[in-house]
Amino acid sequence: MSEALARAAALLRDARHATAFTGAGVSVESGIPPFRGPGGLWSRVDPAFIEIGHFLDQPEESWRRIKDIFYDHFGQAKPNAAHFGLAALEAAGRLRAVITQNIDDLHQQAGSRDVIEFHGNSRWLLCLECGRREAVRPERLATLPPRCRCGGLLKPDFVFFGEGIPEKALQRSYQEASQADLFLVIGSSGEVQPACQIPLLARNRGARIIEINPHPSNFTPAADVFLQGKATQAVSELVKELGLRN
Ligand code: OAD
Repeated sequence: MSEALARAAALLRDARHATAFTGAGVSVESGIPPFRGPGGLWSRVDPAFIEIGHFLDQPEESWRRIKDIFYDHFGQAKPNAAHFGLAALEAAGRLRAVITQNIDDLHQQAGSRDVIEFHGNSRWLLCLECGRREAVRPERLATLPPRCRCGGLLKPDFVFFGEGIPEKALQRSYQEASQADLFLVIGSSGEVQPACQIPLLARNRGARIIEINPHPSNFTPAADVFLQGKATQAVSELVKELGLRN
């Protein structure tokens, strides 16, 4: 076992309140590409289609791309060993919550119970007229843009560029950052505001940081332990080290 893994396991074992903070990297091994870095979505697709002004101006065109990328391509992804490992840590009382920037629902599908969705969730549609939410069903996306029964435009209930963070998710994230004594940061570049502030806020309040990422990120300088590697392997090793099963 590496020395870094032993230190990370000890920090997790001793933590009073550990919180995970995840980004696109935790879902890479489920077949969902990251946004930045090698193979990143934003290196081949202009993100304007999920900019709120553009979406309102050209809903049909935006929706075609949204459906293609987020529903047809990535919609079939399944949780991987990292998602299951975090659920196992929570079930064993080693982890309080997962704050995720991901909209893919994979933490919930793996069994995590307290998931704080910083950027919303693609599994839900929101009516921009009446505020009604409904679960996405394939037939709802047969005609684009999808419309609510009130006639209003439906938007995926995840945060577009130019929109604010859902109030409840923001509050709960700040609460975790102020209460946690350990943050487990997995698969995030730390380039997107205000999400990237959450682990750093925790750190400023005295929390330790364990980071899992194959490459150094903006969080790495603040990390007490940097487990350089892929999420599935590193989380599985941590879980095993704590005597738990994935
Ligand atoms: P990024 O795409 O910016 O960063 C992904 C991170 O995952 C990088 O640091 C990679 O090195 C790392 N990574 C890649 N493969 C990995 C693996 N197998 N295991 C662990 N880590 C791996 O993703 P985020 O930081 O999540 O926002 O991006 C934040 C936000 O930017 C997203 O939520 C999204 C995007 O614009 C919105 O859509 C509002």
